[in-house]
Amino acid sequence: MKTAVVYASYHHRNTEKIAEAIAPVLNGTLVPILQTDTLPDVTDFDLLAIGSGIYRWKFHDKITDFVENLPDGGQRHVILFSTSAFKNHKFHDAIQKRLEEKNYHVIGHFHAKGSASFLPEWLTSHRIKGGKDKGRPNQAELMAAVRFAEEVKSMMEEVK
Ligand SMILES: Cc1cc2nc3c(=O)[nH]c(=O)nc-3n(C[C@H](O)[C@H](O)[C@H](O)COP(=O)(O)O)c2cc1C
Repeated sequence: MKTAVVYASYHHRNTEKIAEAIAPVLNGTLVPILQTDTLPDVTDFDLLAIGSGIYRWKFHDKITDFVENLPDGGQRHVILFSTSAFKNHKFHDAIQKRLEEKNYHVIGHFHAKGSASFLPEWLTSHRIKGGKDKGRPNQAELMAAVRFAEEVKSMMEEVK
């Protein structure tokens, strides 16, 4: 099985830690979309893992553009992962909907808290001034990411 792990991560590289945790399990090629212009040909991969920090409730625009430019998925499998200051199960909805419209099959989601030292004014409260959730994702969350990847790997082997 071959996986492309395409992710956007810049604030504290929190999402990159998740990408790096899941990639070895899924035989993944890391594609840090903000640091490269070379995008993968998704037809070379069995699984597409797409991740992002959450910025203003959304995946990074570069990820949105990447998804917009994907060819028809032919029911290719996808997993989505993210880190954010707050947990909100709707963060993945828009990107999942677009992937499904393009004929991709989203088979799993992973989310972890990510440290944040800057948050837009409209999001800040006294509670989080000066930084939030230092050290997240933590070791336990990275282990949970590995377990998630192992489950996805088993799922992929079953559908083969
Ligand atoms: C510009 C900006 C906007 C953000 N917007 C949100 C948001 O809407 N909701 C949220 O829960 N966290 C928000 N965060 C916190 C990030 O999602 C969190 O720090 C994440 O782990 C960053 O991932 P990264 O280190 O991989 O870039 C925002 C952070 C930045 C810098």
